[in-house]
Amino acid sequence: MLGETYYVKTFGCQMNKYDSERVAGLLENAGLQAVGTPDDADVIVFLTCCVREGADERLYGQVASLKRLKTAGKTPLIAVGGCIGQRDGEELQKRIPHIDVVFGTHNLNDLVPLLDQVAEDRTPQVARLQDSSEADFKRLVPEQREHPFHAWLPISVGCNNFCSYCIVPYVRGREVSRPFDEIVETARELKADGVREITLLGQNVNSYGRDLYGEPRFAQVLEAVASTGISRLGFATSHPKDLSDETINTMASTPAVLRYLHLPVQHGNNEILRAMRRVYTREQYLERVESLRAAIPDITLSTDIIVGFPGETEEQFEDTLSLVRQVGFDQAFTFIYSPREATLAAGFPDQIPHEVALERFERLAALVQVSAEARNAALLDTTACVLLEGPSKRNPALMTGRTRGYKLVHVPAPEGTDAAKLVGQELPVRITGTQAFYLQGVLE
Ligand code: 5AD
Ligand code: SF4
Repeated sequence: MLGETYYVKTFGCQMNKYDSERVAGLLENAGLQAVGTPDDADVIVFLTCCVREGADERLYGQVASLKRLKTAGKTPLIAVGGCIGQRDGEELQKRIPHIDVVFGTHNLNDLVPLLDQVAEDRTPQVARLQDSSEADFKRLVPEQREHPFHAWLPISVGCNNFCSYCIVPYVRGREVSRPFDEIVETARELKADGVREITLLGQNVNSYGRDLYGEPRFAQVLEAVASTGISRLGFATSHPKDLSDETINTMASTPAVLRYLHLPVQHGNNEILRAMRRVYTREQYLERVESLRAAIPDITLSTDIIVGFPGETEEQFEDTLSLVRQVGFDQAFTFIYSPREATLAAGFPDQIPHEVALERFERLAALVQVSAEARNAALLDTTACVLLEGPSKRNPALMTGRTRGYKLVHVPAPEGTDAAKLVGQELPVRITGTQAFYLQGVLE
């Protein structure tokens, strides 16, 4: 018996968010119910991330602190999965002995049997960690979605790019594409289940199909999933070197595809891009942006940027600033470089002192804010088609939603209407105010 309640905590990327929904589905299927805090849970599951050092340390801190629950008269089962589980395996269990189950990124279906075993004999278990070639895409039980109207749909796992700073290919393994028919069939099932918006997932969705003799490609996945009649279709993440004209044209000509692209640039200087092994130049990135904007003029563009990569000079950093100015991103996720074990860049000379990186990071963040403000200000007094997600976390009198450009919008719940009935609906919203990171509007 596993008990009655569970708590899942997610760190990191969208792949982990999806895996959390799968874990929740498995635990519900085993008869457990979700609770809002680990203190009330019989089973606690952490889905972890190790892409940067900070996330790694936070996980160790948070899991270590769960020990208090094991001595307070209760004995919840604690399981840790995701990237740290996959990377550290048994080592993780040795370092934190009160972890009952360690599992990896490709074997979620082992979780419940392993928990059952620990519940029976109280011997900690470490799943046999599998390679991406053994990845199990199948949905054995329906996932427990955070929003009933939104679903994640993985189309590939792993990554073949080996950017010099990145640990992902070492942890998640080589890229493996999910069979095309299985993707389309799953999309059909999700649509029939009331899902309005699907987000296709992969470390690099643009290279989908390369391991399937190059056919079908990502553009065909977009077309086929859109043809199921799903209202909104997004995807993450894209590598600029693999973003083809065919994909751009399909995005432009397929109404269901969101007018939004997350296109990580990482840096604005060619020497650093080369040292990062990104396989494109600043000029090539800018050309992709130009093609995108020519095909989809109102496209929302977001990006990832690293500051303080080994050897980065002030002038090279300024190339990043000038690129941000030149593109005019709607949003940028900015990171201070952190060396990751086994990666090429961790052994590079000239690691940048933290104070220098931090100072650059702050200048970049200020510029990103100005850029985001300007892009949003241009939307004032326009009408957007907004998928309403539910009450705002900060202010329940407001509802939040997303435009087709994936911009966050706050809308007052209309008086006399049951706000709950509007959740999951797509409605026209007049934009009445703009900030750097969200819009304000009223239902038309
Ligand atoms: N240090 C800092 N940022 C990193 N990222 C990946 N690896 C590192 C690292 N070692 C960032 C990249 C990537 C995002 C998910 O995390 O910008 O796109
Ligand atoms: Fe990491 Fe580069 Fe692969 Fe993205 S494309 S997961 S940054 S190695």
